[in-house]
Amino acid sequence: MATGSTIDLRPRPQRIGDAERAKLLEGLGFGRVFTEHMVTIPYREPDGWQRGTLVPYAPITLDPAASVLHYGQAIFEGFKAYRQKDGGIATFRSDANARRFNQSAERLAMPALPVERFVEAADTLIETDHAWVPAGSGESLYLRPLAIATESALGVKPAKEYLFLVFGSPSGQYFPQGVKPVSVWLCTDYVRAAPGGTGAAKCAGNYAASLVAQQKALDAGCQQVVWLDALEHKYVEEMGGMNLFFVYQHGSRTKLVTPKLNGALLAGVTRDSILTLADDLGYDKEERLVSTEEWGRDLENGTLKEVFACGTAAVITPVGQVKFDGGSWAIHGGEPGPVATRLRETLLDIQYGRVPDKHGWMHRVL
Ligand code: COI
Repeated sequence: MATGSTIDLRPRPQRIGDAERAKLLEGLGFGRVFTEHMVTIPYREPDGWQRGTLVPYAPITLDPAASVLHYGQAIFEGFKAYRQKDGGIATFRSDANARRFNQSAERLAMPALPVERFVEAADTLIETDHAWVPAGSGESLYLRPLAIATESALGVKPAKEYLFLVFGSPSGQYFPQGVKPVSVWLCTDYVRAAPGGTGAAKCAGNYAASLVAQQKALDAGCQQVVWLDALEHKYVEEMGGMNLFFVYQHGSRTKLVTPKLNGALLAGVTRDSILTLADDLGYDKEERLVSTEEWGRDLENGTLKEVFACGTAAVITPVGQVKFDGGSWAIHGGEPGPVATRLRETLLDIQYGRVPDKHGWMHRVL
């Protein structure tokens, strides 16, 4: 155990060999391969968070009455560790993910985990499983921290026992087609989040409730669903689990417009990073309501040039086609646009350590 560490190390007695690992790292998709370890930290009242343990990656045991299985106190995060130009490893804004994790915890009446313990857990996992951080183009180690209510109790109330866990998944592109634009379905019958609901929390239930609409999008020949506001079904909120940006051109000025955070949208870390990069790259930016009506109108009048989605998993993905009951729109001829491409390259250059990290976003682990 390192000095000051709150994590005990109980690694596998024998590690997977280089040849077997190299085989598992071939042709990576998203979230299918997992590294050899995970870090767990239990919580119980009245003591709070306990010491953590690094253990072999393995199934966990839950009591059938564990309250997560019934009442769904489950939150998660996603962030990435990138192999750097010099061979080292750094994570992108893990502290921002830790803070958002605690915002989700608060909404689900779960205990906050100190930011430094969240980061320490991920760093310990990455240090132990560093050989699993892939080095191929577009590849990274996707970290998945989560917390669940483990107390065995059927009364509906906040649990008194929880488990925090972080594991890692060497990953390539999120969408199998890579950075080719996605087609999206404007969903007017289901909603993702309503005012006062859990839309701003990264909780498992939001994703469970999205799946029927995601299936509907697939049935309509689209890859993703675009969520509209719950009250009027008029304003754009998110795409699947990602935030959306609209790229406008007015004369010589390029403007990035994104739906304003309203308590129903997830405050994406990539979304926030793009708003910062807009200043660096000389783009104007605006957070406001965006209606589907203006989406169609501004494509028609030619001021809306590109639309793209952003998130940790897929970074930046252009939207090439929009379908809805009664019609469809093409965007930028169904091809990636220059602004989405430039932002994506700029972000990836920072993440892989190919350019200076002037915003202090990278956290060096090794
Ligand atoms: C992300 O864009 O990182 C997401 O949140 C998608 C994830 C749930 C796979």
